[in-house]
Amino acid sequence: MALAYNDTLTSLQFPDYIRHKKLRQWIAEMVTLCKPDSVFWCDGSQEEYDGLCEELVEKGTFIRLNPELRPNSFLCRSDPADVARVEDRTFICSLSRKEAGPTNNWVNPREMHKTLSTLFDGCMKGRTMYIIPFSMGPLGSHISYVGVELSDSAYVAVNMRIMTRMGRAVYDVLGEDGQFVPCVHSVGQPLEPGQQDVTWPCNHENKYIVHFPEERSIWSYGSGYGGNALLGKKCFALRIASNIARDEGWLAEHMALVGVEEPSGEKTYVGAAFPSACGKTNFAMLVPPKAFQEEGWKVTTVGDDIAWIKLGKDGQLYAINPENGFFGVAPGTNYKTNPNAMDTIRANTIFTNVALTPEGDVWWEGMTDEPPAELIDWHGNPWTPESKEKAAHPNSRFTVPASQCPTIDPAWEDPNGVPIKAFIFGGRRSTVNPLVFQAFNWTYGVYFAATMGSEMTAAAAGKIGEVRRDPFAMLPFAGYHMASYFNHWLRFGRTIPNPPRIFLVNWFRKDENGKFLWPGYGENMRVLKWIVERARTRAAGVEMHLGRVPEYDHLDWRGLEGYTKEQFDKVMSVDKEAWKNEILSHEELFIKLYDRLPKELIAVRELLLSALWSAPKWLDRYE
Ligand code: OXD
Ligand code: MN
Repeated sequence: MALAYNDTLTSLQFPDYIRHKKLRQWIAEMVTLCKPDSVFWCDGSQEEYDGLCEELVEKGTFIRLNPELRPNSFLCRSDPADVARVEDRTFICSLSRKEAGPTNNWVNPREMHKTLSTLFDGCMKGRTMYIIPFSMGPLGSHISYVGVELSDSAYVAVNMRIMTRMGRAVYDVLGEDGQFVPCVHSVGQPLEPGQQDVTWPCNHENKYIVHFPEERSIWSYGSGYGGNALLGKKCFALRIASNIARDEGWLAEHMALVGVEEPSGEKTYVGAAFPSACGKTNFAMLVPPKAFQEEGWKVTTVGDDIAWIKLGKDGQLYAINPENGFFGVAPGTNYKTNPNAMDTIRANTIFTNVALTPEGDVWWEGMTDEPPAELIDWHGNPWTPESKEKAAHPNSRFTVPASQCPTIDPAWEDPNGVPIKAFIFGGRRSTVNPLVFQAFNWTYGVYFAATMGSEMTAAAAGKIGEVRRDPFAMLPFAGYHMASYFNHWLRFGRTIPNPPRIFLVNWFRKDENGKFLWPGYGENMRVLKWIVERARTRAAGVEMHLGRVPEYDHLDWRGLEGYTKEQFDKVMSVDKEAWKNEILSHEELFIKLYDRLPKELIAVRELLLSALWSAPKWLDRYE
């Protein structure tokens, strides 16, 4: 049961199961600073979750969905000005500017602390502070870490219960002196006595998502949405964890973790890094084509967004998914593109900024071929198919426990993690990048991952469709200098006796008429099978200028025999001129990062350029 106290500042009473002195002291300091009306100690129980959801319904923040259609599920509508991560308001406040590097916003930490102290002073007046203890990774795993988030948003508390292992048991893991990452979050909209609250409080003038890497602490102000507010995810598991990982010699990556089971029962796990909005959740829950299924091929899901990877005593890499749930993008998700996600969200799900049907269920663009005749859109307004606006926000989301996923891997909570045999990197590129190739070695792989580009998404500032370099899909998430991060990868690779193979994919290549050249979705299994077999050094491949590639006959086409060799050659084609320009354009990134850029990457670039310039005639068939 939750313990709720209407404490005054001077009489803050701690539950006796919190034995950690430093934690108590920090909570007391934050209560003194933020001045909440009350403090709520989250225990993570089902009763507590149900109670908080009910309160959110009473407040008008949540709408309970039809229990027959969507049991124990809710719809939430955010403020239209608070709908995505705010990268331009995200800061890495390391002691030195150099350490944050040119791809992160930086402010002197002393100055930032001053700004935050002013903003947070009294920021929770009229509200409750929720004390949210959480573990990233299975409780007690040697790969896991603990955080405590203090937030004035009940929406955050219930979402954190889904997205992390949240609750009282975390205090047992912490004991009296365990390490934790302090995370403080406020929507930045205090209430005067008697002032009526809004259903989605946030701050329209100020938003700050701030990381102090040396202190290993996180402060977030002004937004209640997703990665800005659920601080275990991008803030902790990527930005702060990437710093911890560098210091301790492991990897914190923006990767889905996927298991591929062969008919023999042999299982291969891969880590796949795709930038936001490149179908990472679909890939994590991939449904193999029928012919593969009938033969016994299975794809299982360990995680859809983040991987923490450590070197095991046996010289292999082992990865865990530090999260406990999925915070997936709704639009485009349907029974064709991702039936497993659709089955996952049948119950116990929080939907944010999707549309509401007259029956009390949810809908979003792409969910069904035909839109319903009438809906309530994500603003709460009536909507019909004639309406100009979208019914659901393009970045609308579902929050759902990972355990509900039909393809969840039996080992997804293994405290030792799962062994990783391959890494896959790929952005959304309508031109230039072929469907798949294998980097010649770890260093080449790091080069291609470092120079990966993707066409813009809702969360990124910039023009939709423009290519932005998104190294390792970590551009918004690396918590220190990007070039030092490359160096960390290179160094890490040298410590592994038989490092995982690195592959580059592009599911999004289009022809001159803008038509996709590759069917994608479940058909990606054909590529994944080749990858897995190559990672185990069993599949054939030929060498070309960028790396090793499959020929048409190297892929398994059962069930897709209509896809011709000509089509395959086109989606695999490497236009030498386009690639020379592509590689030359990497210069821009390299110059930006020049002060710390590893020399190996400059050397690889030269090797690639000379290979392309002097490519032998026989490679012309890829053009
Ligand atoms: C996400 C993202 O929400 O990468 O996972 O933006
Ligand atoms: Mn992500």
